[in-house]
Amino acid sequence: MTGETILLTGGAGYIGSHTYLALLDAGYDVLLLDNFGNAYPDVPERLTRITGKPTKVIQGDIRDRPLMDAVFRDHDIRAVVHFAALKSVAESVAAPVRYLDNNVGGLLCLLAAMDKAGCRKLVFSSSATVYGDADQIPTPESAPRRAVNPYGQSKIMGEEVLEATGPAWGIGILRYFNPAGAHASGRLGENPRTGPGNLVPLVAMVANGDLPEVTVYGNDYPTPDSTCIRDYIHIDDLARGHVLSLQALLDRGESHTVNLGTGRGHSVMDVINAYGHACGRELPVQYVARRPGDVPICCAQVGLAEQVLGFRAEKTLNDMCQSSWACVQAAAGV
Ligand code: NAD
Ligand code: WQD
Repeated sequence: MTGETILLTGGAGYIGSHTYLALLDAGYDVLLLDNFGNAYPDVPERLTRITGKPTKVIQGDIRDRPLMDAVFRDHDIRAVVHFAALKSVAESVAAPVRYLDNNVGGLLCLLAAMDKAGCRKLVFSSSATVYGDADQIPTPESAPRRAVNPYGQSKIMGEEVLEATGPAWGIGILRYFNPAGAHASGRLGENPRTGPGNLVPLVAMVANGDLPEVTVYGNDYPTPDSTCIRDYIHIDDLARGHVLSLQALLDRGESHTVNLGTGRGHSVMDVINAYGHACGRELPVQYVARRPGDVPICCAQVGLAEQVLGFRAEKTLNDMCQSSWACVQAAAGV
């Protein structure tokens, strides 16, 4: 049913802000909550300019229990899409307790406030990182969970907490593979306050002349071009997956745990070449040693998401690079 209010924690971030637009398009009323630790304060205003409607936003932290109780008291929230988390693997290795506090402690605080308010439907941002170095590629949802860093451990713990909530709850666990690209308006995109760590925004910086070359971590992997392979999924497809997940919970009461990927792998060099094509010039690269903790190949088995949610990713790597580049150019006023 449309018109229902959905709370997006971490809604000013990369995936949250794009999902906000998809949920509004689907007819939901959406409330954003974010502490702006990794998002710029102008994101709500950007969303307003895209939608033509004022963005409802609360600045606050999911670990603030009195605030969370007040949010559920003051709004008739039907379900939560929970994006708020810290997401840097490297940072999590340096500060594991900070990651557990934010990602696991934050989830527990949110769940307690939801339970008190009788709101028991939640979509959770999980990650392909829960599979670690998977034995089976493409990887099915039934593969064992193996943490290879504290960030991954925090996502596994989050899934375990949600699995323990019991039959009164409706839970959608979405394991994203590698999100990339930007909204067609060119007004959103991936703009983390802490600076990018993922491949596509770093390649975008090289394309824009903000970095001299793309650092390629390892060209001695057992893959066709010797660089790592990932399953990149367009942010628009990913956002649509959240709408379908919510509909499964709200309309059919179906909890689920599914991969959101394309099922197709692309190498680091494929990404650099596709971005070069999008921006119209060959991008310089420098090969360096492997990045510790990187797995050679990560790719989703996608059949379950199609079966359970009717989800199938539609956009290509070229679409991701072109939309990212359009966004970079819009920001530069080109
Ligand atoms: P992001 O950093 O852009 O967005 C997360 C948002 O949450 C930020 O705006 C941040 O300010 C906010 N936040 C963090 N902790 C908070 C707290 N305690 N209280 C309130 N707000 C808080 O990251 P993203 O890429 O949009 O990721 C969203 C979710 O998806 C995260 O849970 C992440 O772990 C997960 N995920 C991301 C990827 C990826 O590659 N981007 C892949 C798999 C899973
Ligand atoms: C992709 C590929 C790098 C930067 C991470 C998290 C994962 C999930 C998605 C949240 C790898 C290579 C990268 C660079 C490079 N996030 N690379 N030069 O590591 O697959 O996944 O984000 O849940 O948990 O681990 O994504 O974009 O960092 O790297 O060569 O400057 O690009 O080695 O092969 P990754 P990434």
